[in-house]
Amino acid sequence: MLLFLGRRVPLSFVHRVTTCCPSSLSKPIWLIKLRSLTSTTHRTVFVSAASQNTRIMPERRPFVRLPTDVYPVNYGLSLKPDLIDFTFEGKLEAVVEVTQATNQIVMNCADIDIITASFAPQGGEEINATGFNYQNEDEKVTLSFPSALQKGSGSLKIDFVGELNDKMKGFYRSKYTAPSGEIRYAAVTQFEATDARRAFPCWDEPAIKATFDITLIVPKDRVALSNMNVIDRKPYPEDENLVEIKFATTPIMSTYLVAFVIGEYDFVEGQSSDGVTVRVYTPVGKAEQGKFALEVATKTLPFYKDYFSVPYPLPKIDLIAIADFAAGAMENWGLVTYRETALLIDPKNSCASSRQWVALVVGHELAHQWFGNLVTMEWWTHLWLNEGFASWIEYLCVDHCFPEYDIWTQFVSADYTRALDLDALDSSHPIEVNVGHPSEVDEIFDAISYSKGASVIRMLHNYIGDEDFRKGMNAYLLKFQHKNASTEDLWDCLEQASGKPIAAVMGSWTKQMGFPIIVVDQEQVSDDRILKISQKKFCASGPHNGEECPNWMVPISICTSEDPKCTKLKVLLDRPETTITLSGINTDQWIKINPGTVGFYRIQYSSSMLESLLPGIRDLSLQPVDRLGLQNDLFSLLHKQADMQEEKNRIERVLGAISAPDLIQKVLNFAISVQAPVCEPSGVVWRLFSKYVIDEWMQL
Ligand code: BES
Ligand code: ZN
Repeated sequence: MLLFLGRRVPLSFVHRVTTCCPSSLSKPIWLIKLRSLTSTTHRTVFVSAASQNTRIMPERRPFVRLPTDVYPVNYGLSLKPDLIDFTFEGKLEAVVEVTQATNQIVMNCADIDIITASFAPQGGEEINATGFNYQNEDEKVTLSFPSALQKGSGSLKIDFVGELNDKMKGFYRSKYTAPSGEIRYAAVTQFEATDARRAFPCWDEPAIKATFDITLIVPKDRVALSNMNVIDRKPYPEDENLVEIKFATTPIMSTYLVAFVIGEYDFVEGQSSDGVTVRVYTPVGKAEQGKFALEVATKTLPFYKDYFSVPYPLPKIDLIAIADFAAGAMENWGLVTYRETALLIDPKNSCASSRQWVALVVGHELAHQWFGNLVTMEWWTHLWLNEGFASWIEYLCVDHCFPEYDIWTQFVSADYTRALDLDALDSSHPIEVNVGHPSEVDEIFDAISYSKGASVIRMLHNYIGDEDFRKGMNAYLLKFQHKNASTEDLWDCLEQASGKPIAAVMGSWTKQMGFPIIVVDQEQVSDDRILKISQKKFCASGPHNGEECPNWMVPISICTSEDPKCTKLKVLLDRPETTITLSGINTDQWIKINPGTVGFYRIQYSSSMLESLLPGIRDLSLQPVDRLGLQNDLFSLLHKQADMQEEKNRIERVLGAISAPDLIQKVLNFAISVQAPVCEPSGVVWRLFSKYVIDEWMQL
């Protein structure tokens, strides 16, 4: 049993626990990855390690990126896995470019034994490498040559062997039970972030893109898949039980997106309306269970094509359920891998929340085919943008394909409120973290990158407006397609498209940790409503008492009781406080900040404003997400205001009113279907089981 945000989490829920101390953090943090038992439960979450503060964290490990005097243009890669001995043999024939004469080639390599290596300049004589110097800590190898390799093109040949490991990273073995009951193994890959180097020596950095020609030599009764379609299949001359399968050349791509799978699978196939062949591979005998994901994928591809105005560039996409899989899913270009619970739906025995989860995961990974695969982050520091963007647009896509799910309400109850809860802790960290050594890269796949990242992109989309946002996205994808880009490159494109100060606004959310609480008071002067708005840092531990109070550039929207769904006024709060006048507002109209609960901040209304919202809560004219956001803010403020009895009573009254029957019913149904109270400590379900709600529930 483990303490998780002050609540107990059975160890059976915990999938991965690591400690970390990103450079910007003063306190250690536990990173806990919860298994995907239910809809939203396997994202990584941050937990502050209150009891760990005596622990001495290791120093940051020194790290240098690969030299660029030799870089790859094309990898001709042939692999022959042995599914009985759990080893593989590999042959690399890479076309490389030497930019500066050198007698060394430095590449990434981990847990691989190089047998021979040679270099042949174009049209010249082959030179054998005379030394392989492994720098195990840095996961690199230096190949030394007896004479200098001259500037120009050449061919680098390396023969190597490796182990099909059981670590669920690199090229690994995955155990499954055949329909006969026999235990068998598949060979699969998981390369993100830095594990392609465990399958073949390579330049394993996202900015070092090249094309790939992959050949797999496999038992003839097994399915073999890779990023591209098969272009040749022939008997393997040295063993009649094997076949040699050759795949088409990939577009230029990063190593972490390369994938291959060898195993026994059934599949269902479809065609998206834009002509892409889509297959969902399932365990043998379970093809039926791939039909829902196939429907999602065939709807999703045209949605993204239309949204980005850029077609999917490969002729096929395969989605495959892997028996042993560490993450939830992985966006390998053209061959997306999933853990079984994130892809398969048993049509006879599945609940709505499982279908919603599969739709979100498929939507997430297919978004990466453009945002991540076609345009790739220049370095892992920008990983938050990759994951934050996909974690936002997966909801946009599911909302488009399945409007009946009302999926944005779940975004607010899952990602948004979780991000606010975690980011209010002193142990949080800025979204953008500088990373270097591979050991630091894994640490940033956390709830701040995913959930806060998605929340600030949702706020940005709302601030820019859909039309200009799409314009900017399209410009970004076209400008950087088949290349690499940084967070600033996206801000530039969105700034051009919208004419708004995107880099300045977003920098205030991504470069500093935490978020503001917006304090609002109002005054009526004849037909005008005058709002006094100010910001200060919201801290779960009490008022911010650092030297300098940080400020954010906060997009603020305002609606009134006249039309609670429609924004009446938008302002950018770019200073500690401001005054806004809304004209033509009667005394009996209420004002609400942040309609749709899209701004990443909490709101503290004056007592009179809070009281005035009661009718909108009671008659349900305030939308469910707004009642949810209000309830969430009040609950977090209640802790802080425990000593102010009068204000506390007022907040309790509004909280009681918010837990209206329709919302209770909806959330309880959800809670019962996914047993959410156990694993969703910061979300709406937990709130609804709070004292106020249970009191009201009993009276219904
Ligand atoms: N790129 C990630 C997969 C990943 C995560 C690789 C961590 C290496 C380390 C993928 O796009 C992803 O985000 N997967 C999520 C599921 C998604 C629906 C949120 C995951 O695995 O948790
Ligand atoms: Zn992702």
